[in-house]
Amino acid sequence: MPHSAVLNVMIKAARRAGRGLKRDLGEIENLQVSLKGPRNFVTAADRRAEEIVYQELAKARPDYGFLGEEGGAREGADKTHRWLVDPLDGTTNFLHGIPHFAVSIALERNGVIVAGLVYNPANDEMFVAERGKGAFLNDQRIRVATRQKLNEAVVGCGLPHYGRGGDLGLARNEIAAAQQHFAGLRRYGAAALDLAWIAAGRLDAYWERNLSPWDMAAGMVLVREAGGFVSDLDGGEAIFAKAQIAAGNETMHRELIRLLKAAAKEP
Ligand code: IPD
Ligand code: CA
Ligand code: CA
Repeated sequence: MPHSAVLNVMIKAARRAGRGLKRDLGEIENLQVSLKGPRNFVTAADRRAEEIVYQELAKARPDYGFLGEEGGAREGADKTHRWLVDPLDGTTNFLHGIPHFAVSIALERNGVIVAGLVYNPANDEMFVAERGKGAFLNDQRIRVATRQKLNEAVVGCGLPHYGRGGDLGLARNEIAAAQQHFAGLRRYGAAALDLAWIAAGRLDAYWERNLSPWDMAAGMVLVREAGGFVSDLDGGEAIFAKAQIAAGNETMHRELIRLLKAAAKEP
């Protein structure tokens, strides 16, 4: 499947950063047993990965703006294009040697996400999508699952992180509501991959609060191009503004939002 020039640029950047992260994952396994632990090493790996992505993207598109989780915003001469990058989504997994993390790269044009890539270097799964051109996993077309029954659905979610705030009471209500209706709940720990897995039909629905644009941007275009729906938790378009997302096929997305809204009203 031939990709557009811009997607090839994104793929090259993700593969290069991913190679480094995969090597670093091996080192982390050694550091788990050291007194200092792997935390500083992970921070450095994360920054290194972002720099590699930035260098590769800037080499091919020097004028585009760039927003990365680690280095923040870098203005570009071209105000219509901006990269949104999370060089390492799933840091906690990575820190623990859990091979479920990703490089996430999205391209925004005039405020619209037009291309997205989510790459897990640990198992070499490359999810890509471009607006109007479909979604792919390692060059195979992917589509959201067609499941319609909630009691057959497997649903991903986020949980508030220790020490980072978040409404624990609300999270408990939402999880209780989801548990009462869905077959299974999962918390995998890498938002970009959760969305990519919706696109691939592995998860039927997913929601999370307190996310940043770089966690969601690439996954949003993947889900849409795989025939799915994404919105904020009220069913609207304010995903970035409200820092929250719900995703799934049409039925699962609608039903998930209905359940979450009811859960939010509970004491
Ligand atoms: C995190 C992951 C995680 C989600 C967090 C994100 P990071 O990103 O996507 O699944 O629950 O809220 O911040 O920090 O690993 O890049
Ligand atoms: Ca992230
Ligand atoms: Ca990150």
